[in-house]
Amino acid sequence: MTHAIPIRRASRPRPRLLDLFCCAGGAAMGYHRAGFDVFGVDIAPRPNYPFPHHQGDAVAYLAALITSGEIEQYALVHTSPPCQGKCALTVGTNASQGWGGTHVDMVAPTRALLERTGLPYVIEQPNGRAQIKKDLSLCGEMFSLGVLRHRNFELGRWSVRRPAHPRHRGYVRGYRHGVYRDGPYVAPYGSGGGKATVPEMQQAMGITWTDVREELTEAIPPAYAEWIGRALLASTRTDLAVAA
Ligand SMILES: C[S@@+](CC[C@H](N)C(=O)[O-])C[C@H]1O[C@@H](n2cnc3c(N)ncnc32)[C@H](O)[C@@H]1O
Repeated sequence: MTHAIPIRRASRPRPRLLDLFCCAGGAAMGYHRAGFDVFGVDIAPRPNYPFPHHQGDAVAYLAALITSGEIEQYALVHTSPPCQGKCALTVGTNASQGWGGTHVDMVAPTRALLERTGLPYVIEQPNGRAQIKKDLSLCGEMFSLGVLRHRNFELGRWSVRRPAHPRHRGYVRGYRHGVYRDGPYVAPYGSGGGKATVPEMQQAMGITWTDVREELTEAIPPAYAEWIGRALLASTRTDLAVAA
């Protein structure tokens, strides 16, 4: 009679991902599910962020990682720079870069640093902003979600085939120009006028770990980042730096 010898498999190391402007981690959760170890940076306190993170200016943090060489521990950098007028720059960064006033472009300085990392990167922006290349556009209907939440992604140093934009199943519920329409999607921003409640936003986007309206309003659905993370891993698997 033979006995099977149990084999202990070494757990496969997970590649590391730096998540800049991380908020409460809608993107982070998706990358985690795709197989990454995620570390976040946000200027605001984000106690709901479900992974290790640092509170501080994302641009200054990335610059310091490049200078020290510590950026090499990461395999991918995801960034969601806030749109103009919503940026919270530190005084030091503001002064040294000459930014300020009402016209603040966080995308250009972020991209300039991302180019210096030598790593594949992602810059995410909402629809209707022109500061990024639209290498990829995702919609909630691609993932059978209860939001449309169109988002564009600039991909640095890697590419992926763009999925087709599916036909929407109906309207976004709520008032538009004084007319109320019902529909299979909710509006995950603002309040009143038929817009989503916090539990509806959580359900529609698949985000359960925060009930802060602002954090849900800012988030991308984890399904988007999981799709991107899996695509990146499939396209560059052999080249990735992995966690020690
Ligand atoms: C659009 S949200 C990011 C959403 C996130 N990717 C998600 O899926 O949940 C932008 C975030 O940038 C943060 N932020 C604004 N200025 C910043 C800065 N200078 N450094 C770091 N974070 C900043 C805001 O606090 C906010 O949480």
